[in-house]
Amino acid sequence: MHILALNSSPRDNETSKTELVLQNFLEGARRAGASAETLYLRNYKIKHCLGCYSCWTKTPGQCVQKDDMTEVLFDKYLQADLVVLASPIYHATLNARMKLFVERTLPMMDPLAEMGEAGGTPHRFENMPRVVTLSVCGYWDQVMFQALSLTWRLILGGDLIAEIYRHSSEFLSMPEFQPQVQAILDAVAQAGEEVVRQGQVSPETMANLTQDLAPADTLVRLSREFWSQDAAG
Ligand SMILES: Cc1cc2nc3c(=O)[nH]c(=O)nc-3n(C[C@H](O)[C@H](O)[C@H](O)COP(=O)(O)O)c2cc1C
Repeated sequence: MHILALNSSPRDNETSKTELVLQNFLEGARRAGASAETLYLRNYKIKHCLGCYSCWTKTPGQCVQKDDMTEVLFDKYLQADLVVLASPIYHATLNARMKLFVERTLPMMDPLAEMGEAGGTPHRFENMPRVVTLSVCGYWDQVMFQALSLTWRLILGGDLIAEIYRHSSEFLSMPEFQPQVQAILDAVAQAGEEVVRQGQVSPETMANLTQDLAPADTLVRLSREFWSQDAAG
């Protein structure tokens, strides 16, 4: 199984919590025998969708624009067995860079194709990759992933086999939480292994992965301390 991971965080790999969670997931997937490569959308030039529908009419399955989407990313997506779409939460949903990428996958869709039972937009191509979506958010509750999750489910339908969402992301680098963080990252790796071996994540692994780091009032206090004038700079 070959996995293509797309990370849309603008932050460098040492700072990005999307990257932290993503690389642990891929480590588990590799343990189960998969190969994996990560592409960082920040390094690619992706133009906005023009909304011309040429990819459905004049040039079916092909975008009329020329950029890194048409030259690199589109084909890589179709060639993968599994794609991991990894976006941080920005304003309660996927970030703009990932949305830009997703809108340019319109040529993969066929308005005349049969709608699958699980919904999602109908495909033009055979053997589409399965998809795992992955995200992190600063807030200390899984509720922050509601809009993102609904969006991905409506777009991906039956292609979506697992959702890896980790809240309290910025606390993951705080020294006081390291034993728990290790348990969480181990669960993320376990999820990667389970996706490759079984095509899904077990409820037990999901519970470990989403466990609270501390009571909400503790996290609120730590967050305030962090963002206070002194701590921020
Ligand atoms: C522009 C912006 C908007 C954000 N909006 C939210 C939000 O709505 N909810 C939330 O819980 N965290 C929000 N965050 C926090 C990020 O999700 C968090 O810092 C995360 O770790 C970023 O991922 P990264 O480290 O991979 O870049 C936002 C961060 C930024 C920069």
